[in-house]
Amino acid sequence: MGLAVESTANGVLKIGSVSLDSPYALAPMAGMTDTAFRRLVKRRGGCGLVVTEMVSSEGLVRGIDRTLEYAEYTEEERPVSIQIFGGDPATMAEAAQIVEGMGADIIDVNMGCPVRKIAKHRAGCSLMRTPEHAATVVSAMTGAVSIPVTVKMRAGWDDDHVNAPTMAGLMEQSGAAGVAVHGRTAKQSYTGRSDWSLIDEVARRVSIPVFGSGDCVAPEDVVERLKETAVAGVLVGRGALRNPWIFKQAARLAQGGTKGSVGPTERGCFLLAYIDLLLSEGTSEARGFRHHATPAPEAGTRRRGAASCERWVVNKVRALGSWYTKGVDNGSRLRKAINHAGSINELRIIIHEFFEATEEMPLAFPKATHEIVEAGSL
Ligand SMILES: Cc1cc2nc3c(=O)[nH]c(=O)nc-3n(C[C@H](O)[C@H](O)[C@H](O)COP(=O)(O)O)c2cc1C
Repeated sequence: MGLAVESTANGVLKIGSVSLDSPYALAPMAGMTDTAFRRLVKRRGGCGLVVTEMVSSEGLVRGIDRTLEYAEYTEEERPVSIQIFGGDPATMAEAAQIVEGMGADIIDVNMGCPVRKIAKHRAGCSLMRTPEHAATVVSAMTGAVSIPVTVKMRAGWDDDHVNAPTMAGLMEQSGAAGVAVHGRTAKQSYTGRSDWSLIDEVARRVSIPVFGSGDCVAPEDVVERLKETAVAGVLVGRGALRNPWIFKQAARLAQGGTKGSVGPTERGCFLLAYIDLLLSEGTSEARGFRHHATPAPEAGTRRRGAASCERWVVNKVRALGSWYTKGVDNGSRLRKAINHAGSINELRIIIHEFFEATEEMPLAFPKATHEIVEAGSL
């Protein structure tokens, strides 16, 4: 077991004051880890923490409608971490206060995004090129809020500047309550492999919890990385988009059991439940259930019209489909069909027909698609 885990009281994994009941966490993924997806992952079980898509600190401070939407979360996702990006200490501190005001459990700082549009504003991974400035940003945030602030970084900017171990130390000194490391450089983007020996080195260097990230596609990978290295937890990204049951399966394996299998019915129901949740965004929830910040007065209505809502849902299902179908037999056929669907009705029929083609599929899906998923084999 890693140093960071041993340093926590009674073996309970804590990030600052926040206890996690599992060391496996859903990684932040722009465009993917929306509140609907996060809820469905939590319902599968085994996931100790979910992180939102990255949210612009500027957008939060200016009350931009779409930005605020990215930061929304629901009670059942707790503990929830809202990831923000930006490079200006005062704006990041103010954004952190907004996130705290929304009732989030943790604020995460994005120091991993390699995209030029973000990096040129001294944000994302470019903060790793200016460690002193990054420390100023994090100190401003930790001084402004009382909830834990964490930092998600890469191995470094490029092969000549692999500085995650020293950056993690600096972040700890700046008051960060935890760090996550994706073991590739910004230059690597997604090529090569995540360097877990570097992640291990980071975890041994600092006394705050370290989460490792990268290439955990199967539940076995998740369990092995946690066992082999000093990390306190593992962030799962693309593996969860393919297989949202990965956390539950990892938990089962870690307890000495078998990972269990996920049948086509459950896989089909997951997609249908995702559509249902996207469609019910902001409509069928009890007051106080959803947490959001107040938009700027000039921001206008937050409701999408029917046509734009339909387009939005179709696009979201296409985006998830491009990953999810990789975990399915004949997935490329399903992916193509989803990409050609122009309406929600078409999507539903495609999903029904594809998963009905297997033996385990009942003739028709019950209306409340979530229920059958909850009652599934895992
Ligand atoms: C579609 C996509 C979007 C991502 N968006 C973010 C993001 O908003 N913030 C962040 O810190 N990392 C982001 N990442 C990186 C992941 O959190 C993770 O560190 C990386 O994918 C490696 O882990 P994996 O191999 O388990 O996917 C993203 C990754 C993907 C694939």
